Amino acid sequence: MKDLLKKLTIEEKLGQLTMIPPFFYIKDLKKEVFGALTDMKLSEEGVFQTGSVLGIQNHDEMNLVQSKYLEKSRHKIPLIFMGDVIHGTTTIMPTPLAQASSFNPSLVRKGAQASAKEALKKGLQVTFSPMSDLSRDPRWGRVVESYGEDPYLNYILSKETVKGYKSEGLLSCVKHFAAYGLSEAGQDYNTVDLSRLNLFEYYLEGYRGAIEAGADMVMTSFNTFEYVPATTNEYLLRDVLRKHLKFKGVTISDYDSLLQTIYHRTSSCDCDAAIKGIKAGLDIEMASSSYMRCLKEAANKDPEILKLIDEAVLRVLELKKKAKLFDDPYRSEHLLIDASHAKEAAYKLAKESIVLLKNESLPLNKKTKVSLLGKYATEKHVLGPWSWHGDPKDTDELAKHIKAEYMNDSESFFDYDLAKIKQTEHIILAIGELYHESGEAHSKADINLSSHYIELLENLSKLNIPITVVLYTGRPQVLTNALPYINNLLVHFHLGSMTSKVVSDTIYGINNPSGRLPMTFPRHQGQIPIYYNRLSTGRPYSETNPYVLKYLDVSNEPLFDFGYGLSYSKFTYKNLELSNSVATLNNLPTVKVTVTNESDVTGKTTILLYIKDEFASVARPVKELKQFKKISLKPHESKVVEFKLTKKDLSFYNQKLKKIVEPGEFTIFIENLEQKFTLK
Ligand code: GLC
Repeated sequence: MKDLLKKLTIEEKLGQLTMIPPFFYIKDLKKEVFGALTDMKLSEEGVFQTGSVLGIQNHDEMNLVQSKYLEKSRHKIPLIFMGDVIHGTTTIMPTPLAQASSFNPSLVRKGAQASAKEALKKGLQVTFSPMSDLSRDPRWGRVVESYGEDPYLNYILSKETVKGYKSEGLLSCVKHFAAYGLSEAGQDYNTVDLSRLNLFEYYLEGYRGAIEAGADMVMTSFNTFEYVPATTNEYLLRDVLRKHLKFKGVTISDYDSLLQTIYHRTSSCDCDAAIKGIKAGLDIEMASSSYMRCLKEAANKDPEILKLIDEAVLRVLELKKKAKLFDDPYRSEHLLIDASHAKEAAYKLAKESIVLLKNESLPLNKKTKVSLLGKYATEKHVLGPWSWHGDPKDTDELAKHIKAEYMNDSESFFDYDLAKIKQTEHIILAIGELYHESGEAHSKADINLSSHYIELLENLSKLNIPITVVLYTGRPQVLTNALPYINNLLVHFHLGSMTSKVVSDTIYGINNPSGRLPMTFPRHQGQIPIYYNRLSTGRPYSETNPYVLKYLDVSNEPLFDFGYGLSYSKFTYKNLELSNSVATLNNLPTVKVTVTNESDVTGKTTILLYIKDEFASVARPVKELKQFKKISLKPHESKVVEFKLTKKDLSFYNQKLKKIVEPGEFTIFIENLEQKFTLK
């Protein structure tokens, strides 16, 4: 690729560092224009020098754009096509937050494999996924695209998602670097401010997992880090990403996030932004053209700029080589991929992604006379946000799976015929957020379950008929006032194409729910941010001392904890044992626990292993998830589950950002059991 680089003019080099949508090449293609795209200030010649394409409808369209482009390309360097396959392409998988509820890394990997097959067939070579932003604030619209609040779960699922894409040959771009999930007040695009220690200890873990698995690209985030926009932040892109995380691939901005540095007021104009971007280590500029318009002059004045441009272009050419575009710019072999198993992968993953939070009378018997109420009784758009090429017409509504004596899908809660409902034996209320109430630019200040649902539940509860609520939502919601009226509560974060079948199969026991919450459900939204791996503080709550961590009006406890989830089976955990209570780094304990299914129903459960470092040179969380295993147990079957502790489980970053382990006492928690050991 170095020989090819030498042949390029500066204009051709800068074109390789620019990404635009397909309708700039073929005018009558689907258009969606906002931000800098409204005026790219590019000539026809400039358009045909650009190097990568944002989004594509199908393989034919990709061929059309590629062939028209190559006709005009002097060196026949193919375009590379990238797009947002966040949770599926045509067959929509559960959203990432729903997938995180499964605590099943291998199903997540298989879902990514299925999505990759469809994406490649559609003409994409790169997906802008996984989104590995740690998310602790349910007001933020994009928590639905994340793997939730835990760094370890984020690390593992980001890693497995990239492995799934990679195994099929789909390149991946992990995003949004970095710490975008900490947007203040949960407001998308808002300020982010955190210490380097917080970044290294918690917020980098997801990106690290993706990069360790071989993510090919990293997308910069809209937010600032230490008051410098991530897109022009040399500390983030060179010191943290290249040196600390050892990333060698291509960096790309988010949608016109380079020009947004002008609105951040850290760039005086587009050419200032362009120079700051290339110096910081930004390779591709997405959906704006300041590189092409400004860096030729900058390179003429400063050879260092030209050197940085050459380094970036070489990485882009290597990326195209990795995508085998020089072998076949049309990737025709992808048309032969058998993507027919995507629905099966979606169903298996969705089955394990639904969470049972309260249960008095599920599963239902098919003979039970049911009233089916609520928007989702007949809503077909169950795909969640970022459902790429998913088509609601390909899904079916819940009513198709549930034979209801009485059904009402109207939002107006006073249309319900209580007299009719009284003739039935069980009420299923399928309610929640629609797909467009979460996702990018869809943050909410109020995450309480809407008052009309609470009013409806109160009215229905007077009928003394058991009520099952199925909550479809892109985020944790505050359910505190609704819970007393609910007998059985199922929650999911949008399960994709197979939603209705999975919800119905779970209600009737064909599917035994095994999901667990990847994010804390607040008792009151005033508690936000509330997450499980908090620090002790100097005044931890106590009943006796009034001057402690507390609110006057609300308890400190969440409504539902991270990791909480019920099953139709009854699991017990006994005999938590450590192989040795005094340990060295060369002889860390093996942890054993006996798990028994005390019920007559086969079920799956996830054993979550938490660690507490009792004393350290920096404050450590009250507990941290460090390993987990999901197992299936037949009725009355017991298994001894083993975990081998590792040095990584005990390590943390000190104030010098050095990863260390300190001797001392550690506590292991599994469910309500605990054991201690001392590290010498
Ligand atoms: C959007 C999103 C990013 C997405 C990109 C391309 O603004 O922030 O997640 O990948 O633009 O669509």
